[in-house]
Amino acid sequence: MEFALTETQQQIREAARAFSRDVVAPRARKTDREERFPAEVYRQMGELGLLGVNVPAALGGAEAGVVSYSLAMIEVAAACASTSVGMAVTNMCAELICAYGNDAQRQKYVTALVSGKAVAGAFALSEPHAGSDPGAGHTTAVKKGDRWVINGTKQWITSGAYAGVIVVWARTSPTGNKGLSCFIVEGGAKGLTPGKPEDKMGLRGSNTVQLTFDGVEVGDDAVLGKLGDGFKLAMIALDGGRIGIASQACGVGRAAIEASVKYVKERQAFGHPIGDFQALRFMLADMQTQQQAAELLTWRAATLKQQGVPFTREASMAKLFASEMSNKVCDKAVQLHGGYGYLDEFPVERMLRDARVQTIYEGTSEIQRLVIAREILKNQ
Ligand code: CAA
Repeated sequence: MEFALTETQQQIREAARAFSRDVVAPRARKTDREERFPAEVYRQMGELGLLGVNVPAALGGAEAGVVSYSLAMIEVAAACASTSVGMAVTNMCAELICAYGNDAQRQKYVTALVSGKAVAGAFALSEPHAGSDPGAGHTTAVKKGDRWVINGTKQWITSGAYAGVIVVWARTSPTGNKGLSCFIVEGGAKGLTPGKPEDKMGLRGSNTVQLTFDGVEVGDDAVLGKLGDGFKLAMIALDGGRIGIASQACGVGRAAIEASVKYVKERQAFGHPIGDFQALRFMLADMQTQQQAAELLTWRAATLKQQGVPFTREASMAKLFASEMSNKVCDKAVQLHGGYGYLDEFPVERMLRDARVQTIYEGTSEIQRLVIAREILKNQ
């Protein structure tokens, strides 16, 4: 067992940390309050390799592995969770096309995603009536001559109004999970309409929209993987995506702890900095212990993925634990700040709102428990 970071991992972490400190953090409050989608930040992230951390260098990625990806996500999320979710989904789409796309798809779409030219990637799986159960999706892709015609509505699509590359799941036959296929659609395609941005509790700088496909036409060259394999591709992508969201949760949790440490050293009560009081010290001790446990689960899942061995259960365990940790830690951080924690002026208020969705998206905590239990029963 090795806990030290490799030189590459250290370099990626340092690069992501410096970029987050200099570029992402200073605009985090405005990104949230003014609901500013950080398109220009993604372009800069592309130049640094942060949109394709685990993508081969031949396709423009950093080729730095999954642990490096997690480390980079933690740094960006600690500065701004809104910015980090678009980064996570772009990396997820790039990796999926890399793994299942043909050469032409890789050259065209992976390079556009990781360079930032596509601004962001979008993962269009969920539908208004089908979130936890994506196999119940209604969107269809029907072959007409040599074209596929896509009709339907996708829901909760991160970066949906800005993404240059959208991975879309559509039904190519009526038979449940096996009837789903995966397509690559370009942003701005004729018949594709993004809805009004959702007015969310947190992650307000991230763009979340409904996408309507009204006769969107693509050719056979837009089919990703084999027809009928769409559900499996979604599950494989989500296994990796859950490491991304676990990392996001670790970053937000870490930032809430850092803000709390600063505050309890400065704030005075009863003639002492409040950090002198045992009740608050115990809170900080629990917060730090949970946050570091979440990091270890996340890096273990990342290491397994990097080694090319099964990691479904570990990714779900990491996502479950880390997302619940960040909610508890941010809640305690607000408590430690007293009334000030409830104000926009202090970052923990935003962190608590941003953390809330982490137990919901990329598979709810209940779905993670279902996946973990199934894996335990299958393997023992
Ligand atoms: N890897 C590879 N294959 C997998 C797999 C995995 N992790 N999980 C399942 N499969 C395969 C199964 O082996 C099975 O294959 P066969 O039919 O050949 O046997 C097939 O997929 C169907 O599997 P299940 O029977 O297990 O499928 P299910 O309908 O019972 O659903 C589920 C399983 C785990 C509940 C799944 O539906 C799920 O993960 N739901 C949650 C969806 C989700 O996370 N949505 C998030 C939306 S994206 C998002 O939030 C992004 C964002 O913007 C931040």
